[in-house]
Formats: sequence, structure tokens, C-alpha cells
Amino acid sequence: MTLTDGQGRKHDYLRISITDRCNLRCVYCMGEEGIEQLKHEDILSYEDILKVVRAGAELGISKIRITGGEPLVRRGVVDLIRNIAATPGISDLAMTTNGILLDKYAGELKKAGLKRVNISLDSMQPEKYNNITRCGKLDQALRGIEAALDNKLNPVKLNVVLMKGVNDDEIIDFLELTRKKTLHVRFIEYMPIGDHDCGYRDHYLPLTYIEEVAIKAGFPLTPVPLPGGAGPAESYTIAGGQGTIGLIHPISKHFCDTCNRLRLTAEGNLKACLYWQDETPVQPVINDNEALKDLIQEVLKSKPVEHQMGCDGKCGSVNPGSMRSMSKTGG
Ligand code: 5AD
Ligand code: SF4
Repeated sequence: MTLTDGQGRKHDYLRISITDRCNLRCVYCMGEEGIEQLKHEDILSYEDILKVVRAGAELGISKIRITGGEPLVRRGVVDLIRNIAATPGISDLAMTTNGILLDKYAGELKKAGLKRVNISLDSMQPEKYNNITRCGKLDQALRGIEAALDNKLNPVKLNVVLMKGVNDDEIIDFLELTRKKTLHVRFIEYMPIGDHDCGYRDHYLPLTYIEEVAIKAGFPLTPVPLPGGAGPAESYTIAGGQGTIGLIHPISKHFCDTCNRLRLTAEGNLKACLYWQDETPVQPVINDNEALKDLIQEVLKSKPVEHQMGCDGKCGSVNPGSMRSMSKTGG
């Protein structure tokens, strides 16, 4: 079965935020005090998440990504992975994590059926990493990355949000990392998301900057086929590279025309577009599989053609962008 939206775009990918809580507080994601947390009883139960996964799979969803917040801080996540992996129709199961707890969980997650991970790593300098995450210890994240490699949660991708004046001096170090290890570094443009003053205006840099730096440093980027479960990244490699370099430009070159994803927020709202405010709760129909399937289709029918992130209202946006932080929506 094929699930399509109002524009005829095929949708086979569901991203599920299982918690809005996080053990870090990255500057581009939340304010210093963190975010107002959902109460435990307002978070969609694993049982209900599985109902959405099953309904989605019956409609044509085959790929699932578990996100947060930080998914590994929610208890019982390994069992959830096991149950999703066992759902007929689901062929790809990935997780986005900050890697802090991955050292502990990578083996169990792999055994439970998790295929691959994306790990946030915006700096390889301990002090800077600590500043960006406001409390994170780089060596823990690095241990998590090693654990992902050891347990073959491949391809292991690293998310690097490019921030002018913050980590733009580490571009070459990240390129070098892909030479030494089978890691896939994905540079992501800073997005103006969330309810805090996220510093977007001061720190946004288009990813053309990466290509300029790479060429200047004698590391021309050669296009390569996308590694497994590719998504919207353009993929490159440097000479002798074991891994790849991905460029994800949600702002300067948005990829809305090929968008294949639907999101489920931590409190159980379906969201057809990351940046749009519209959300629809699944709870009212959660015990009626047919009604749930109808709801998923309905939500997709009204999916916007494209987001208008970064347009500053000049593009005649009719629907204000989402003020919900990434930790609630899922990255
Ligand atoms: N801009 C770009 N990427 C973001 N992420 C979170 N907030 C932002 C933002 N404002 C991404 C990071 C992180 C993932 C969970 O979400 O890449 O790795
Ligand atoms: Fe936590 Fe991820 Fe947000 Fe960082 S980006 S604070 S790791 S949810």
C-alpha cells in the first residue's frame, strides 16, 4: 500500500519522539533553563505508540526513527525497539540520540532490532562541546560513537549543526574524521526552531561554506551514492575517505518536494511538517485501527507544500512557523 499526501508525495517514513526530556540542553534546541517538561501522564504510552506504528505500517510506512528529546532517557526503550522491529512491514528502524547513554545501550539496542543511529556531535573540542550542550561531556559522546561502531549500528551518522563563530573552525577536523573512520558526518543548517532566542540570526551559515572551506583546504568533495537510509542529505567523500560527508540544507535549498516523512510528537500528536503549527492528537482514535488509519491519511492530505523557515515573513507565509522546540517534535 502507498501512502500519499495532498501533493502526491509518497510517505513511508514515521519519526517518533518518545520523550521531550533530555540529558543535554543544546543551545540551538532549548533555552538555558531547558524546556517546560510534559508530565509523565501526558506522554503517549509505548502501547499507544505501537498502535500508531501498526496502523502506519498497514498504510505503507516502512521506516521508523525514534527521537526525543533524548530517547535513551525514557525507561523501557529497548522493549519498544524490539516491538517495533517485530511489526510486519517495518524494514528500517533508526534512532537519533546524543550518544551520552549509548555506551550502555548500544549492544542491547542492536539485539532488539535497531539498525542504525544518528548521533549529535557539534564539536570535537571538550570545552566547546560542553558549552554547546551546556552540560555534556565529550568523552561520553565519543564512547557512545565507538559503541555504535562496535555494535554495527551502521551506517553511524554524526549530526553537526553548523554555527558561525562556534564550530565553523572545525569543518576540516570533521572532514578528516571521515577519512579515519567509517563515520558519516552530516552538516545541518541551523534552523530557527523553538521558543527561545536560539541565536539563529547570529549563527546561521549556508552549507555552501563547507564546500568553500573544503576546496580551499585541498579536500575537494566528490559526490557519492547516499549511504543506507539516506534522507535529504547530498553525499560526498574526500580522497581516501572511509566515511562520507552529508550536506543537509533545510533553509538554503529546502527539500520539501521530496519530503516523505510524518511525525508523532511525544504527547501523541501527528505532525505532517516539522515547521508547521498544525498537530492532530491520535488519542481520540487510538483504540480504533480503522479510524486511526483514516486520521493519518487526513493529516497527510493537509500537509503544506513547503515550509517557510527562514523567510522572515517576506514570503507571504499564511501559517506561522512552529514555536515548538526540536526536543518536543523530534529532530
Ligand atoms: N537547527 C538545526 N538542527 C537542529 N537540531 C535540533 N535543533 C536544531 C536546530 N535549531 C537537530 C540536531 C540534533 C537533532 C536531534 O536535531 O542535529 O542532532
Ligand atoms: Fe537534547 Fe538533542 Fe535538544 Fe541537544 S538537540 S538538547 S541532545 S534534544
